Amino acid sequence: MQQEYAQRREQLMARIGKGTAVFRSAPMAVMHNDVEYNFRQDSDFFYLTGFNEPQAVVVLAPHHEEHKFVLFVQPKDPERETWTGYRVGVEAAKERFGADEVYPIAELDEKLPQYLEKADRIYYQLGRDRPFNDTILKHWQRLMRSYPKRGTGPTAIEDPAPTLHSLRQIKSPAELELMRTAAAISVDAHNRAREFTQPGRYEYEVQAEMEHTFRLRGGMGPAYPSIVASGANACVLHYTENERQMQDGELLLIDAGCAYDYYNADITRTFPVGGKFTPEQKTLYEIVLKAQLEAIAQVHPGNPYGQIHDTAVRVIVEGLMELGLLQGDIEEIIKEEKYKPFYMHRTGHWLGLDVHDVGVYQHGETPHNLEPGQVLTVEPGIYIAPDIKPVEGQPEVDPRWRGIGIRIEDDVLVTSAGHEVLTAGVPKAIEEIER
Ligand code: GLY
Ligand code: MN
Ligand code: MN
Repeated sequence: MQQEYAQRREQLMARIGKGTAVFRSAPMAVMHNDVEYNFRQDSDFFYLTGFNEPQAVVVLAPHHEEHKFVLFVQPKDPERETWTGYRVGVEAAKERFGADEVYPIAELDEKLPQYLEKADRIYYQLGRDRPFNDTILKHWQRLMRSYPKRGTGPTAIEDPAPTLHSLRQIKSPAELELMRTAAAISVDAHNRAREFTQPGRYEYEVQAEMEHTFRLRGGMGPAYPSIVASGANACVLHYTENERQMQDGELLLIDAGCAYDYYNADITRTFPVGGKFTPEQKTLYEIVLKAQLEAIAQVHPGNPYGQIHDTAVRVIVEGLMELGLLQGDIEEIIKEEKYKPFYMHRTGHWLGLDVHDVGVYQHGETPHNLEPGQVLTVEPGIYIAPDIKPVEGQPEVDPRWRGIGIRIEDDVLVTSAGHEVLTAGVPKAIEEIER
């Protein structure tokens, strides 16, 4: 794996040429008072180093003669470590992470300028980390002042994200292996959840079954707060209370996935709590499933990303029109987004180190075309909230449709031949999920 991190740094350095890139570790997040959440490294930082500690900075200086890869880390401190946990420390970091030089983080101000003063620009993402922005700006200002005298120095701060994130967007075989594992564990958890679900059980019990599987199988835990939403709760897109007792005759929408070695899965399934769909539920489910299957069929190298969403929207609108839930001219409904009270989110996102992973979807007016190695979710839905308000000119919704929320979400890899559904192991066909 060290070789892979080195390769990523090489790729980035080849693209920044005479610049110097600086990344800071993620901040610690407070759970309450002086208790912190488990530390989770910033994804860019992790992608480039594999180093999982707070209070760290990585500097990539391709033009520097000796030190192209420099780490600033927390030094060893046995007394502190007794309280806060193990630190790699300066000595071992050099060896273990392959850095050309490692310094204690307290020496950042003193040591950083030597890696910036010959750079033509600083690659740093302003805007994410206020205190660290100030540090970078301070050094930049100092170097600007001495520019006339020395004739070298960074004349601009540039965001490394477009370059780095285009690398992150294409998953390597090693990354795909981790993503397949995250997917496989999440698939098992969903199947376990479906078998476990029955009228009278609580949403949190289903959540517990799933999260038990995530951790038991060596995952880091949920990739995002698990959504276990029965009945009308499914119409709340980010319902995470998971407190309700599930009733016969309702649907259960589960949106949950695990993180495995920093890589994420993101799966949604919707199925009947009591084993049988009502006619209304089945009708809407068939539309969502058709939308999802047709959208997935659009995942092919060279196809514009937006075509996935456009395909899902058209199937959903056609379906809702057939039921009389939308009326009028289909092109106008789509263009003016009159379907939005029923389908208000996009059909997916990139997936990787972040659940909503980095990478562009569109280049201004130019579409982004799919490429092998990209991983994305395909997740259309229909949500008919109990108090749904159709847009003006559209019919009122008959009460029999209300309180039904359905989403189906899979993780899809773009391959040279088309695509591969990484999460296909959770059934979604009606005959497979009814019992
Ligand atoms: N679970 C978050 C999402 O589906 O995007
Ligand atoms: Mn999801
Ligand atoms: Mn998703």
